Amino acid sequence: MVADPGPVLAQLQRDFEPAIERLSALLSIPSIGTDPTFAPETRRAAEWLAAELRSIGFEASLRNSTGQPIVVAHHPGPGEGAPHVLYYGHYDVQPPEPLELWQTPPFVPTIVEAERGRRIVARGAVDDKGQVMTWIEAMRAWHRVHGALPIRASVFLEGEEESGSPSLETFLAANREELAADLCVVSDTNMWDVDTPAICTQLRGLLYVELTLHGPGRDLHSGLYGGAVPNPLNILTRMLGQLHDDQGRVRIPGFYRDVRELAEGERAKLASLDFDEAAFLGAIGLSRGVGEDGRSTLERIWARPTCDLNGIWGGYTGEGSKTVIPAKASAKLSCRLVPEQDPDRILAGLSKFVADRTPPDCRFEIERLGAAPAMRIPAESPYVRAGAAALEHVFGRPPVLIAMGGSIPAVEAIKRLLGMDSLLIGFGLDDDRVHSPNEKFELVCFERGMRAHAALLAELANLA
Ligand code: BES
Ligand code: MN
Ligand code: MN
Repeated sequence: MVADPGPVLAQLQRDFEPAIERLSALLSIPSIGTDPTFAPETRRAAEWLAAELRSIGFEASLRNSTGQPIVVAHHPGPGEGAPHVLYYGHYDVQPPEPLELWQTPPFVPTIVEAERGRRIVARGAVDDKGQVMTWIEAMRAWHRVHGALPIRASVFLEGEEESGSPSLETFLAANREELAADLCVVSDTNMWDVDTPAICTQLRGLLYVELTLHGPGRDLHSGLYGGAVPNPLNILTRMLGQLHDDQGRVRIPGFYRDVRELAEGERAKLASLDFDEAAFLGAIGLSRGVGEDGRSTLERIWARPTCDLNGIWGGYTGEGSKTVIPAKASAKLSCRLVPEQDPDRILAGLSKFVADRTPPDCRFEIERLGAAPAMRIPAESPYVRAGAAALEHVFGRPPVLIAMGGSIPAVEAIKRLLGMDSLLIGFGLDDDRVHSPNEKFELVCFERGMRAHAALLAELANLA
């Protein structure tokens, strides 16, 4: 029998306002995974999701990993022989700070009318709670109409994605059999634009470190000692200023060793996408892109590695002045990586870069806060075809195959440890303000996302 999503799409339409209520309920739980004081709230979000899954026929439980709980759930679908899909997502959110820049409180979900219709504003609206609810709502509707799901489905929801997924590998390795499936489906990426869906086939990796440079044994009077002793802030900022050359290339030794240039065809494909660069930059108050010379903005974001300072501190930063030479200075630094770059090799190169510039009597520490290799997913597979068909069914046009500059460490780990490719179909927009104040999810994206997931269930069922 060929599964038909029609009645399920109708059910989604009837149930849309309650679906918004349910998303609001999830968004009102401040599951800030990076902040230990929010651990009870983070657990509450996991419990809320497990309960939702149980209400639509899943057997669901919370697993205590080394960190935040992991929600694991299974639905037998039509039983053995049916395609088996693992749905991955994350219920943790980034900290909402700076609070004063939010127009409404970050954990009081608010519906706002704007150019594209209604939107829901809250931390986690699109990253990733709203997107997780697109597939949960599609399953709910399918369950409601048919009393079951058309495929075998498992669910894996983590609460540490925004912290770099530190417990993930151990958990996946220890639960290989339970989590095994034919395919992983993830909604945590963007569309091309509000009317054009996308399938993401490449994510950048990440190396995130904290670097501290130590000098004198204590903070010093900058008059009594200044000019005659090493100043860690001066030394650190000088070396950080040397991270890029005048052409915008990163000067860490070996940084580009494994980086492949785009083939002519790939470059032409990038150029053929009608990317509105002026709009992309204009939305954030800029008029020109900056990066490696001779490369387009899309190439810079999708296909080139980076090194960026994320924060820097040391000495006195309070009100007024204090004449001080600090004993140490620190910076947080991220490298976005492309396929084949090994985070550990990049870390070794960075250590050498810093060592070569650390003068006598000074020493440095580099703490590795997170690492994940980049990920490339084959663009030709029955699963990508199923995803494309589902998206075309709902949007009336085929998806654009895109790369994205962000990282989702689980996608690479799931490939490496469980041997599964992922289908990344996301419903975010570039202007959703992920990780920023006033994060939002357009309700039209929420609705289309749910519909696309219902259509995807039908396509996947038909693969059997
Ligand atoms: N969902 C994002 C990544 C993303 C956003 C990919 C938009 C594509 C389009 C994810 O939650 C995220 O923020 N990842 C972090 C990972 C890090 C904390 C290890 C990132 O990319 O900074
Ligand atoms: Mn996310
Ligand atoms: Mn995120």
